[in-house]
Amino acid sequence: MIFVTGGAGFIGANFVLDWLAASDEPVLNLDALTYAGNRESLHSLQGDARHHFVQGDITDRALLDRLLTQHQPRAVVHFAAESHVDRSIHGPGDFIRTNVQGTFTLLEATRAFWSALPANEQAAFRFHHVSTDEVYGSLGPADAPFTETHVYEPNSPYSASKAASDHLVRAWHHTYGLPVLTTNCSNNYGPFHFPEKLIPLVIVNALAGRPLPVYGDGQQVRDWLYVGDHCAAIREVLARGRVGETYNIGGWNEKPNIEIVQTICALLDELRPDTAGTYARHIRYVADRPGHDRRYAIDARKIERELGWKPAETFATGIRKTVQWVLDHPEWIARVQSGDYRNWVDTNYTARSNA
Ligand code: NAD
Ligand code: DAU
Repeated sequence: MIFVTGGAGFIGANFVLDWLAASDEPVLNLDALTYAGNRESLHSLQGDARHHFVQGDITDRALLDRLLTQHQPRAVVHFAAESHVDRSIHGPGDFIRTNVQGTFTLLEATRAFWSALPANEQAAFRFHHVSTDEVYGSLGPADAPFTETHVYEPNSPYSASKAASDHLVRAWHHTYGLPVLTTNCSNNYGPFHFPEKLIPLVIVNALAGRPLPVYGDGQQVRDWLYVGDHCAAIREVLARGRVGETYNIGGWNEKPNIEIVQTICALLDELRPDTAGTYARHIRYVADRPGHDRRYAIDARKIERELGWKPAETFATGIRKTVQWVLDHPEWIARVQSGDYRNWVDTNYTARSNA
């Protein structure tokens, strides 16, 4: 079996669902169920003996030791993290605890388990660390996209904590020989995306007639990738990636934020027309994110060259599926907008929109 951490979050849940749709290899899924974790995303696996869910924390060494010994996984796929840049600005402590301390604890538990395996199982074992393009910092308009050898220049508490975790993973390979793989991916979007992030937030706010907050001038550029393509890339790297290597994953799809917001409004105008007028009337420019990275772009040629992976979705097909998914799942959306969610919206947006 494989051992997934953070498999009740956005990408982790998509990964587990896709994995079990494509293979009968069981999944041990460890997730702390923070505000971002949602068992409802895994509802379709209820009663499926191939999915073993455990609520627990990656900083809990005794729990990790017990799970590894009991389930004897052939690989760890590590998604669990605090993932939202704005939250990292308001409260960086959780990011250090989970992303740095948690990754360290998981590496140590995995190393102890892996060291005791017979030589052939040690050689076949993999620790796959799921990371982000944000570790590379920000690009100027004419700069070439990030390659795997780009210098690390993280700018937010989130990206600094992910950079630290990448360095730990690298060191556990070089020092202890742990067979690691690291992937650094661009911005994902798709089903089960928590509506604190730009794309689901804009869809949900537009449908509710609330303001669509665009930070700063809206000209920051992100490289958007449909989540199913990210999951497919991770499966390829896990199966055939070279041990100790990092692979950048991206959609070759750079877009300024304002264009993303306008595209969503146009899709909603088509799929759920509002008699009062276009959803774009709700767009509001608000105070910028402190330290806001201007541009990310991924050079994904290495993974294409070595493993033959490239994205299957274009942005046009992926964003249409995503908007339709939100329209088709009002109950999932309603339930994740709990009291805690409303507190976050107040914390992040009240001061911003008054600025
Ligand atoms: P998410 O915030 O939606 O999910 C994170 C999951 O981790 C949640 O289910 C949460 O409950 C769990 N978790 C948090 N702290 C934990 C802890 N201490 N112990 C156990 N579980 C814990 O995040 P996501 O967007 O799905 O991102 C998953 C991974 O992919 C992260 O490592 C993130 O850095 C990386 N990544 C995300 C993107 C993106 O666009 N979302 C892009 C590139 C890389
Ligand atoms: O690049 C990969 C990263 O993408 C991942 O590592 C992170 O986990 C993930 O959250 C995402 O980070 P971003 O900060 O790019 O995503 P977010 O959706 O928060 O913001 C996308 C862009 O939209 C960013 O430039 C900030 C802007 N934005 C965001 C929000 C929430 C707005 O203009 N308004 C908003 O209300």
